[in-house]
Amino acid sequence: MRTEFRRAILPREIRSLMAFDRKVFSSSDLFDAGTWKVFESYWMVVDGVKAGCCAFEAHADFQEDIHQGGINPRLKGSLYISTTGILPRFRGKGFGTLLKAWEISYARYHGFNCIVTNTRKRNVAMIKLNRKFGFRIIRTTPGYYSDPPDSTVVMELRLR
Ligand SMILES: CC(C)(COP(=O)(O)OP(=O)(O)OC[C@H]1O[C@@H](n2cnc3c(N)ncnc32)[C@H](O)[C@@H]1OP(=O)(O)O)[C@@H](O)C(=O)NCCC(=O)NCCS
Repeated sequence: MRTEFRRAILPREIRSLMAFDRKVFSSSDLFDAGTWKVFESYWMVVDGVKAGCCAFEAHADFQEDIHQGGINPRLKGSLYISTTGILPRFRGKGFGTLLKAWEISYARYHGFNCIVTNTRKRNVAMIKLNRKFGFRIIRTTPGYYSDPPDSTVVMELRLR
């Protein structure tokens, strides 16, 4: 099995990122093209198939849940992971664990002090996966998601 991680090339791969998103998330949680452009996105390619994808915002804190206007303020040393997803047919085989480990290595390699991320409260798989790597819940904000309504759970991993 050959596995590689590579940066998505923008704007060429926006359509591919959006198509991947539709296979992984429900329609209400999809990023639009403008949102994908804000992030640095990376593919996890397994035997030539884009099996996983994640996206980062460097030097940013996640505060869209507590600030009106949904702005994430700049925070030097903080890596915001805005999405992590594995294609359904690749799940349950450790690829989520592999991608999360790579995200943490990416953050350490680039000298970040901490990682912040968020997910639906009902997303037990993602919360368990983050906990497995030492992420702590720092707050839970009700009413962040719609269709279905849900809280967002904000998690942090301090790296130094
Ligand atoms: C969350 C996700 C990335 C996990 O990917 P995966 O390849 O299935 O993960 P793994 O096989 O490496 O399992 C990793 C851990 O996740 C947790 N997990 C995975 N599936 C789970 C499930 N159905 N229920 C509960 N926990 C689960 C477990 O803690 C597991 O570790 P363990 O096997 O040591 O118990 C995947 O389910 C996914 O892409 N979900 C949709 C996208 C999403 O919701 N992303 C989060 C918001 S950004």
